[in-house]
Amino acid sequence: MFTSPDAIPATYPVGIFDSGVGGLTIAAAIRRSMPDERLLYLGDVARQPYGTKSPRTVTRYAVQAAEFLVEKGIKALVVACNTASAVALDAIAERFPHLPVLGVVEAGADGAAKASADGRIVVAATEGTCRSQAYERAIARRREGARVRCVPCPLFVALAEEGLTDGPIVDSVARHYLGSLFDGSEAGDCLVLGCTHFPLLAPALARLAGPDVTLVDCAEATASMLVRRLAGREAPPGGGGLQLISTDAPERFARMVGKLFPALGPAPEVELADL
Ligand code: DGL
Repeated sequence: MFTSPDAIPATYPVGIFDSGVGGLTIAAAIRRSMPDERLLYLGDVARQPYGTKSPRTVTRYAVQAAEFLVEKGIKALVVACNTASAVALDAIAERFPHLPVLGVVEAGADGAAKASADGRIVVAATEGTCRSQAYERAIARRREGARVRCVPCPLFVALAEEGLTDGPIVDSVARHYLGSLFDGSEAGDCLVLGCTHFPLLAPALARLAGPDVTLVDCAEATASMLVRRLAGREAPPGGGGLQLISTDAPERFARMVGKLFPALGPAPEVELADL
């Protein structure tokens, strides 16, 4: 193992993981801002969803995913999952003290604290993220007096994994979870997409929240955080590329990635791995 971040070769890829396709919303933002970096993406589809599992189980899965990527050789790790960031980030950082490790909750909280006009912030997330109260704490550190309501929306994960990102079914599930939160005097003025799968449903969520509500996702802010963390250790120009690994059903994963992230081609190559 390397003893300092500077000892890790700059040509090593950035490791990224999530329970499934959601973390690719983060990978896509990283590609846009750092096109020369090689990205190694792991979707732990065999064990998804993470959002309904206990903190102990999510921590175990997340540390195993991190170990797998570290063994492959990475120069930084992005935990592209709010649930794992909320409950397992410290465990991962402790396990790999010399690796830059970034989560996504701080980025989302930062975006919300800046974007909310009156501090009435709705966070749509998984059950695990809401239970952890990680968003409430991270927003309170940045914005005193903010009123944060975290709403578990577990079916959004299943819809995104199914490639069902818009239309009447999505509208109806969105109304079920969030329908009452953007009316009246306590109406939210900002909606945080506090799960990396949720930006895939953004058009439907924006329609439901209405034109006065700002949508915040973690992707761009996480990419900017990574740019800062890798300053001076950037990959040489001309590299780039995204390697995909899944822990089950690689053909299905490839099909869904192709559908949801068309820029990657209709059926990108996906390697199968056991953790
Ligand atoms: N995309 C993940 C998150 O940001 C996990 C979704 C799930 O597996 O429940 O929370």
